[in-house]
Amino acid sequence: MTTPDEKALRQRYEELKRLIHYHNYRYYVLNDPIISDYEYDQLMRELKAIEEAHPEWVTPDSPTQRAGAPPAEGFRKVRHPAPILSLANVFNDEELEAWLERLIRLDPRVRDADFTVEPKIDGLTVVLHYHNGVFTLGATRGDGEVGEDITANLRTVRSLPLRIPVRPDGPPPPPRLVVRGEAFMTRADFEALNERLRQQGQRTFANPRNAAAGSLRQLDPKVTAERPLRLLCYQIVVYEGPNPPRTQWEVLRTLEALGFPVVEADLCPDLECVKAVYRKWLARRDTWPYDLDGVVIKINDLELQRSLGVVGKDPRGMVAYKFPAQEVTTTLLDIRVNVGRTGVLTPYAILEPVEIGGVIVRKATLHNFAYIREKDIRIGDRVIVRRAGDVIPYIVGPVISARTGKERIYEPPTHCPVCGAPVEKVEGEVALYCINAACPAQLSRNIEHFASREAMDIEGLGRKIAEQLVAAKVVGDVGDLYYLTVDDLLPLEGFGPKKAANLIAAIQASKDRPLERLIYGLGIRGVGAVTARLLAERYEDLDALSRATVDELTAIEGIGPVTARFIVDWFQRDRNRKVLEKLRRAGVWPKSRLRQAEAETKPLAGLTFVITGTLPGLTREEAKAWLEAHGAKVTNSVSRKTSYLIVGENPGSKLAKAQALGVPTLTWDEVLALVQRREQEMKKSEMATRNGGQP
Ligand code: IVH
Repeated sequence: MTTPDEKALRQRYEELKRLIHYHNYRYYVLNDPIISDYEYDQLMRELKAIEEAHPEWVTPDSPTQRAGAPPAEGFRKVRHPAPILSLANVFNDEELEAWLERLIRLDPRVRDADFTVEPKIDGLTVVLHYHNGVFTLGATRGDGEVGEDITANLRTVRSLPLRIPVRPDGPPPPPRLVVRGEAFMTRADFEALNERLRQQGQRTFANPRNAAAGSLRQLDPKVTAERPLRLLCYQIVVYEGPNPPRTQWEVLRTLEALGFPVVEADLCPDLECVKAVYRKWLARRDTWPYDLDGVVIKINDLELQRSLGVVGKDPRGMVAYKFPAQEVTTTLLDIRVNVGRTGVLTPYAILEPVEIGGVIVRKATLHNFAYIREKDIRIGDRVIVRRAGDVIPYIVGPVISARTGKERIYEPPTHCPVCGAPVEKVEGEVALYCINAACPAQLSRNIEHFASREAMDIEGLGRKIAEQLVAAKVVGDVGDLYYLTVDDLLPLEGFGPKKAANLIAAIQASKDRPLERLIYGLGIRGVGAVTARLLAERYEDLDALSRATVDELTAIEGIGPVTARFIVDWFQRDRNRKVLEKLRRAGVWPKSRLRQAEAETKPLAGLTFVITGTLPGLTREEAKAWLEAHGAKVTNSVSRKTSYLIVGENPGSKLAKAQALGVPTLTWDEVLALVQRREQEMKKSEMATRNGGQP
């Protein structure tokens, strides 16, 4: 017997499942959430509480069930309900036109056909089965006839609907539906994943596609759940129900209405439009968040498409118009080594010249020596080189099957190739360093960095001139730049009186660059432009920064202990102290503008808050905005750097964590009192300064 209470709870349970699916969809499919993360967490928490009390209610379509148990013995084979076909390719406009002409000869109706043009995502086909709207099976393509059952892994993909309709206003699902889509990873997610794997000492992936494939074929869905897989759908393989779509355009709109993430498509009346859409995607390719390898052109009318038939495994009525390759193979002729400004040695490849996307490539980066070893890259190997957009070409890996036995294993250098000093490996790092601080390669790279646009922005001072200055020994460090005279420069090759005077003027003009740029320009290890800014927000000038301790630096949100140590070490070194003295004497000694601006006006400046529980009369967002407006930083998790934990009603686990770390807690009323007190103190000290120190 169910009691009335239980009935109400059951209703609430079903409602919660629907709500959470809907909010997942708003977030992962539409990228348009309508509730805060906090509210979402509350719904999830409520759902979990009900499921704990009633485990017998839990169904596989519950949002809590995305990562289930691993399959007992590998992946089961599944036969597809219809062949999962592939696509023929064309590589230029002529081949595209020839494709269409062939079709017109086969069926004159094609002359009047329109087309959809979709981006071709470089991922993996997945086949998704739904019975009465419930996701029941997901498979890989396999050989097109039989794939593998990866249902448990696909369930972890957040944008995949576990139950249709997802939207409250969505149409009812057809009783049977099989959808085809592409599973993939964005480039940013791929980089982050590789970084995480590297830190855990695990094997990394060569590209986003391999990462997506590896993640989908994980035996443990819990691992897949931590992999940032995405999904976009583009085809209906089976539709059993009323009103089946009759065009590809209707397919996409139907899928969209049912709540699937769908590829972005254009509808084109003729080939001119198709070519324009191809060029649009080609232009976007480098900046697009995920890899595209072309566009897919489909005859819009599904009946016409079907009647055109299939050649081999390729339907005639569709074609992939591929982008020029970004990866080619060539021979690795030699490995050479570059010395950077911190002394780090970076290997690079000398290649048999090869064209990639219209550019001749002769060199490519090899990242670091560990990379060469991990990928087993040998001199003389056939290698895959990739060049995409603005990224420096790099070696993806060797083609092992092309080995002849004549390839040579590469040994990393034991001495700096520029100055001959011994090289060293720093504990916990993969890089090798030249330990000679006076190494000309390091000096000139340092000067080049100091003068670069994001740093002191000295016009005309690039790599070549930096090398000249160091080689002629007129500059030994960045401090010397400000003492250069026209006479120092005239003997250098290519310098006339005008060029010399211009460079001196450009150097002098850089004297009043803001503190954050100077800090960045010093080239302290671990201090990029963002960290430099954090330092300039906190310290008045280089004097103040040079007195900073590791503890003080790590207390700054965004600075970790390793960087803090690098900063302190940098300021302790004699060589660097001399540089600072030269800068000070030359008048290159800016005061922080960022620090003053903040300190003067904001009562909570320098404090970091975390909120837990419900605050009286205001939402989490409102509280956060208010705190930030008063100069505070608000973060999501409690750490040693948290100044205070603000505790509302029904606090969560953050409270225990704060207590464990000794982070003090405040109620909202106490926060208000704190602001009042600080504002009064600030007023007092302001008056004191105005009255010449008299209170
Ligand atoms: S349609 C009958 N549309 O490209 C062929 N495929 O090279 C149906 N792909 O196996 C495929 N984006 O994995 C189609 N918008 C798109 C696509 C797409 C990526 C992949 C798919 C297919 C491969 C063929």
